[in-house]
Amino acid sequence: MSTTPSLEYQSGFGNEFATEALPGALPAGRNSPQRAPYGLYAEQLSGTAFTAPRHANRRSWLYRIRPAATHGPFEPSSAGARWLSRYDEVPTPPDPLRWDPLPLPGEDAATDFVDGMVTMGGNAGCGIHLYAANRSMRDRYFYDADGELLIVPQQGRLELATELGVLRVEPQEIAVVPRGVRFQVRLPDGAARGYVCENPGAHFRLPDLGVIGSNGLANPRDFLAPVAAYEDLEGDFELLAKFQGRFWSARMDHSPLDVVAWHGNDTPYKYDLRRFNAIGSITYDHPDPSIFLVLHAPSAVPGVDTIDFVAFAPRILAMRDTFRPPWFHRNLAGEFMGLVHGRYDAKAEGFLPGGASLHNTMTGHGPDAETFAKASAADTSKPDIIADTMAFMFETPVAIQATRQALESPQRQREYYRCWQGLKKHFDPAKR
Ligand SMILES: [Fe+2]
Repeated sequence: MSTTPSLEYQSGFGNEFATEALPGALPAGRNSPQRAPYGLYAEQLSGTAFTAPRHANRRSWLYRIRPAATHGPFEPSSAGARWLSRYDEVPTPPDPLRWDPLPLPGEDAATDFVDGMVTMGGNAGCGIHLYAANRSMRDRYFYDADGELLIVPQQGRLELATELGVLRVEPQEIAVVPRGVRFQVRLPDGAARGYVCENPGAHFRLPDLGVIGSNGLANPRDFLAPVAAYEDLEGDFELLAKFQGRFWSARMDHSPLDVVAWHGNDTPYKYDLRRFNAIGSITYDHPDPSIFLVLHAPSAVPGVDTIDFVAFAPRILAMRDTFRPPWFHRNLAGEFMGLVHGRYDAKAEGFLPGGASLHNTMTGHGPDAETFAKASAADTSKPDIIADTMAFMFETPVAIQATRQALESPQRQREYYRCWQGLKKHFDPAKR
């Protein structure tokens, strides 16, 4: 038997949530009572060092039918063959790179979320993947010991059945599954495609708002954690682990999604990017993209993140006498971009929903020739309403190495550089 997965969520970011699928399953007053209610086992899941400061400390207490240790020995697995953890197999050229969307697997190629993952690149602070799948995970559960997973669906909904409950996520929403949490990805719409950022560092958190004040950007109440929902299933199941960059498989005689109650702050969660409160210039000039920061993974250096997750959500551009799309630039950062929905305002064509681009450290890029011509002549006395869009960026403070399978992919647009070759010389020293 299993409980009916609840559609209810708990609202807040990093809160000490508490939830039980059976009344009284959560022990009162202590984490590890001598005997937990309903014959459950108590088990702690620690996502940070025990001594991490309180604001960064993440742990949850799970009350479950059997402990996580009840499985057979792990054997090396051939699952996730295109999900890589090394990115230096071939040299990464400093060219701007762009890809068409990953094709969905054919009907004759049953591919689940793990097997449908294709690593595009990464560095010491992140792994960047695309997924294209057409089958729910069946009798198979997965956990990633190497990092938390930020999942950005682009096509098709995902049902993330996790130890801590069920998250239903649709395109323009995101989900985060913490390191080590066991889960199963089900595809209610059949085919599904999207992007994943694997974060081996400090947990994603909401940025401080500084002079913005106490509201704005992504608001904490729009982050939703699941409520407890358990499976009491016995049978022949696979537990698949990603551990130190390799995949391992063990047999289990029961579902690991058997947590009846839990409390804590190390939880999966989801967020609707359409709720993002975009803030920008109301006078002139184009702010840096950090103004659109949704979540970041901080490094040990104050103000420097190992990963910034930035959303280019619908917004109004009102800056006067200003070139409104992002200007030409070169950055310290490695910038991996994806497009979930609609159009991205700095490119006239070629950057498709489901596609991706990588503009690496100090690689020159910016609007294409057509966008430059249009924005240079635009009437900036009136606002531009950018309504039909949802783009995002995984940004890192060091270069992102591209994998061989990304560089040699048939989806790679080898003519991408041409989009800037139409930018003609306008300079005339006699005409100011
Ligand atoms: Fe850029």
